[in-house]
Amino acid sequence: MGLQEEIKKRRTFAIISHPDAGKTTLTEKLLLFGGAIQTAGAVKSNKIKKTATSDFMEIEKQRGISVATSVMTFEYKGLIINLLDTPGHKDFAEDTYRTLTAVDSVIVVVDSVKGVEEQTEKLMEVCRMRNTPVIIFVNKLDREGRDPFELLDELEKKLSIHVRPLSFPIGKGSLFKGVYNLYENRLDLFKPNKTEKETDVIEMQGLNDPQLDTYLGSDAERLRHDVEMIEGVYHEFDKQQYLEGHLAPVFFGSAVNNFGVQELLDGFIDISPEPKGREADAREVKSDESKFSGFVFKIHANIDPRHRDRLAFLRICSGKFERNKFFHHVRLDKDLRFATPYSFLASAKSIVDEAYPGDVVGLYDTGNFKIGDTLTEGENFNFKGIPSFSPEIFKELRNTDPMKSKQLDKGIQQLTEEGVAQLFTQDDGKRKIVGTVGELQFDVIQYRLLNEYGASCRFEHLNYYKALWITADDENKLAEFIKYKNNIAKDKDGHLVYFADSEWVLKLTMERNPDIKFYFNSEFKLESAQ
Ligand code: G4P
Repeated sequence: MGLQEEIKKRRTFAIISHPDAGKTTLTEKLLLFGGAIQTAGAVKSNKIKKTATSDFMEIEKQRGISVATSVMTFEYKGLIINLLDTPGHKDFAEDTYRTLTAVDSVIVVVDSVKGVEEQTEKLMEVCRMRNTPVIIFVNKLDREGRDPFELLDELEKKLSIHVRPLSFPIGKGSLFKGVYNLYENRLDLFKPNKTEKETDVIEMQGLNDPQLDTYLGSDAERLRHDVEMIEGVYHEFDKQQYLEGHLAPVFFGSAVNNFGVQELLDGFIDISPEPKGREADAREVKSDESKFSGFVFKIHANIDPRHRDRLAFLRICSGKFERNKFFHHVRLDKDLRFATPYSFLASAKSIVDEAYPGDVVGLYDTGNFKIGDTLTEGENFNFKGIPSFSPEIFKELRNTDPMKSKQLDKGIQQLTEEGVAQLFTQDDGKRKIVGTVGELQFDVIQYRLLNEYGASCRFEHLNYYKALWITADDENKLAEFIKYKNNIAKDKDGHLVYFADSEWVLKLTMERNPDIKFYFNSEFKLESAQ
């Protein structure tokens, strides 16, 4: 099969949601449909329960689960579908942001009772930065949820995206009858705890089909009225608009009851994009270029601390990846080959001989990779779009065992390369500031430094509001700005970062230093603070 056909066959996506909306349940159901798992309950929730924030066993368990479910590949109707897992806990949001750079589209799960929640809003912002196509699944229709029209309005407002229902619910909670598929004119009748083999789908000749009254009784009129409203308010579904990230089709269902999941999956394979190329610093790389390229978006340390090797997850962007072939590691200017690259078909790790755009391979790594690294067939370019975002919590790392300072340095270096947290340094690396999205990471770091590197440390809280990456056209102006400031540091790539004490101070500093440019992420261009 040629490269073009291989690309056409693939879909790479992630499911995102606020915790508890039903991401794990939906993942499991999709895997059941794809035949990747045989029984319900096989996918473990990767959530760390709120009560267990300092339960280290829980953290380790989470790492174990997330290695196993990082990538789930299954086949469905002739397509190879790569589902990339994202952590459920908000403290690991940075991990999710990075995973979103490796997918071509996203399914957003929203709880019909709770509507759009905070984490969903944040993750959608990241999707919008890259115009990632989004499908919305409104879940838990078996519960007494909100009015569907009200929900659609909220989706549009809070997620800043146009929506278009492709199915519509008939009743809700105890009176929930099913959904009408507007896309294919089918009535899907609800039955609790359906198996994936059971379907109650009735083909309709449009909404005036008298069968509708037979099945729905007085609800048929209501449905006709609702659909009329939909047609009046929303434009026809425009696939191009969806592919450009401006319009999100909406499906309704109940994941736990296996209801609406097949509709979603069929809709997904019908409209979702095939693997796209990526923008690199030197040029745009197209997926159907014959030469291989890819980037590392995630690194997992071995859970066994006696083995320091890691698994680097590489998203293939163009060409063909081959086992044992030399590829060029651009940052290190070094050629590497991989004897045991892994694929994740049917959730079992197995050695793969070749892989194509959209695929993710796991590469054993002894310390060559950092998140964001690019591999090519020789050309020198780096993929963009894997920015670091400003952390929300900052702490200074203090060594509490002077005999182990080398171990501490190495440990924190490696953990931050894995993306557990961001490391900023001052005084040529003597002072280390660790930045994270949540408190939980500090527990993880402390625990892992001790267990894997034998280094002990403590953290001192710093009262910073945000870290901003800074540049200036005039080198002298930049030198002047950083000269008298204590809150200037360098990030992992040696870029300058300014720690703002508060929103107010940031505003003032920006006003007083018009020649300095401040950015909320390390890629400078995507979202300027100004
Ligand atoms: P998450 O990964 O997004 O955090 O959510 P998860 O799938 O773990 O689902 C959160 C809870 O919502 C689970 O209940 C799950 O069973 C339930 N759920 C998922 N889909 C539906 C649905 O369509 N309808 C209803 N009523 N509930 C749904 P739990 O009690 O927290 O866990 P469990 O003990 O049931 O696994």
